[in-house]
Amino acid sequence: MPLIIEATGVAKAFGATKALAGVDLSVPEGSIVGLLGPNGAGKTTLVRVIATLLKPDAGQVRVAGHDALTDPHAVRTVIGLAGQFAAVDESLTGRENVEIVGRLYQLSKAEARKRAAEVLERLKLTEAADRSVRTYSGGMRRRLDLGASLIGRARVLILDEPTTGLDPATRNDLWDFMHDMVREGTTILLTTQYMEEADMLADSIVVIDRGKEIAKGTSDQLKERLGGDVLDIKVKNPADLVRVAELLRPLGKPQIAERTGRVTVAVKDRVAGLLLAANAIQDAAIELDDLGVHRPSLDDVFLTLTGHDAAESEAIAAPRPGRAGRRGKAA
Ligand SMILES: Nc1ncnc2c1ncn2[C@@H]1O[C@H](COP(=O)(O)OP(=O)(O)OP(=O)(O)O)[C@@H](O)[C@H]1O
Ligand SMILES: [Mg+2]
Repeated sequence: MPLIIEATGVAKAFGATKALAGVDLSVPEGSIVGLLGPNGAGKTTLVRVIATLLKPDAGQVRVAGHDALTDPHAVRTVIGLAGQFAAVDESLTGRENVEIVGRLYQLSKAEARKRAAEVLERLKLTEAADRSVRTYSGGMRRRLDLGASLIGRARVLILDEPTTGLDPATRNDLWDFMHDMVREGTTILLTTQYMEEADMLADSIVVIDRGKEIAKGTSDQLKERLGGDVLDIKVKNPADLVRVAELLRPLGKPQIAERTGRVTVAVKDRVAGLLLAANAIQDAAIELDDLGVHRPSLDDVFLTLTGHDAAESEAIAAPRPGRAGRRGKAA
């Protein structure tokens, strides 16, 4: 599959903050690539560089054969972008919002009207189309913003956290919609903080943390890196976390997530792992909230790769009083 987005060595600093520290990203045409990472990982920054909204300090970006640095105009003709925060004009109706974007994409008036009607229909906004956006709910605004990014029949759709803040039903609608788009030939690059979302949607996933790629592959490949099922223990008393991790050492390399009070470890044999853990913890008279084995989620992958869970990365990126230094580590 030819690559429709090819970014290499992209770096961008804001003052002392290295938002991107040399990231590569390849998106094969006709696929969905998920850019996954916690708050502050650099997702929006990378997406803005690819969408030609931001000049990187270093690196190369090509989109559909066009150089994003020297020929941003050509890049803009092939991409549709829905940013992290819905950019809709409150004073207009939904239909007007979409039609205006169509006109910006150089559609004729008649074409813009026709396409807008199609897009609104697909996003289930026909009924509300002629109402002022002021009356729209958050989910409707989000859908409208997405609709506006679709009107130009972009070859590449770049969606920055398209489903953040949506209720589960609306989120599922959007997932279906994205699958339909790809079936019709669109390529999608989407960012998300939800492991589940990347798992459901993306053909391949790039995980970034603090401006750097920390892993990539299919969701199955990422899970395989854990090497088995995950034994997951939640302690009653956080003071026991390190002791529990010590007890699990014979099974592998336990990971502590302080924020959630959990210790996890990958196990090859789930029954043997459970028995060993249950016996050792009972002998040590440590109180637990929960003990179980599950198939690895991308959250587990994240914890294994970075030694801290996704939410803790946020705390590290933006230290708050009393939180600095509170990070999970390998026991
Ligand atoms: N315009 C800016 N000026 C200063 N710092 C910025 C700017 N944009 C981003 N940053 C910083 O760069 C880092 C990466 O931010 P970015 O918005 O790319 O993260 P993100 O992965 O999109 O996070 P989120 O999941 O919260 O949207 C953060 O530390 C952020 O504070
Ligand atoms: Mg962002």
